[in-house]
Amino acid sequence: MIGIFDSGVGGLSVLRHIRTALPAENLLYLADAGFAPYGERSEAEIIVRSLAAASFLASASAKAMVVACNTATAAAIDAIRERHPGLIVIGVEPGLKPAAELSVSRTVGVLATAATLASARFNQLQAQVSAATGVRFLLQPCPGLASQIEKGALRAPATAQLVAAFVRPLLDQNADTLVLGCTHYPFVRQLIEAVVASHGPTNAQLPVQIVDTGNAVARQLVAVLRDSDHLSTAPATGSVTAYSTGSCSTLQQAFERLLGLSVQVAGVVLAASPTALGDAVHNAAPV
Ligand code: DGL
Repeated sequence: MIGIFDSGVGGLSVLRHIRTALPAENLLYLADAGFAPYGERSEAEIIVRSLAAASFLASASAKAMVVACNTATAAAIDAIRERHPGLIVIGVEPGLKPAAELSVSRTVGVLATAATLASARFNQLQAQVSAATGVRFLLQPCPGLASQIEKGALRAPATAQLVAAFVRPLLDQNADTLVLGCTHYPFVRQLIEAVVASHGPTNAQLPVQIVDTGNAVARQLVAVLRDSDHLSTAPATGSVTAYSTGSCSTLQQAFERLLGLSVQVAGVVLAASPTALGDAVHNAAPV
């Protein structure tokens, strides 16, 4: 079984690619919806929750784990790997490298949570890609957007207004490539495209490109499972089961509406152990 977790429904934008790439695998999805959004929490809190989520998936005998959350990856993937050394752990991070390759105006807008953009891991990635390519990155935190998506308000006027307020300034500053640096945001891609369409051409006079790394994460998972001889050889379609620390019906409806999958969702309480807190304090960046 492959375990996948996110703060909420965002990881479904990664799960759909994994399901397509690996139809025979059994997937177990965990939404820590009781503690979403992660992006507005402290690094220490995100580490504690992520370690608890990872322990849950590991204790369910996952052979591999996908941290389908940019915020959790940025804060906690090192701590998760340290805690579960025998487990394949794949994370997601904003697609700065592919975006830099696509951008003609040499200006890329990055939409992500405040916690991702503030993290040491993201800042290191940005510094590397900027130094290697000379591309300018405009960082746009999107407070409130993941919560709207979590509520299922994908076409609500309030969501459209938020998206416009975050995307327009990037286009005004000549970004011709937008990175979806949070796994929730692919679910408002249409709203982002509508803002782009209504904005008119950027100075580069080229269509604006949108970068989502869900597919790349699925491909990486396939490669790692194949290389380590962990791919399922079962002829039948694998199962999808799900757990939530928040509303089970919200996650169930999200599976139905976003992926067309009918999935049973059970409630779960994750134990955040004192050791996890110790790790969090150990790993948290100095403030
Ligand atoms: N889906 C998460 C990410 O990729 C964040 C959403 C949240 O703030 O909980 O960053």
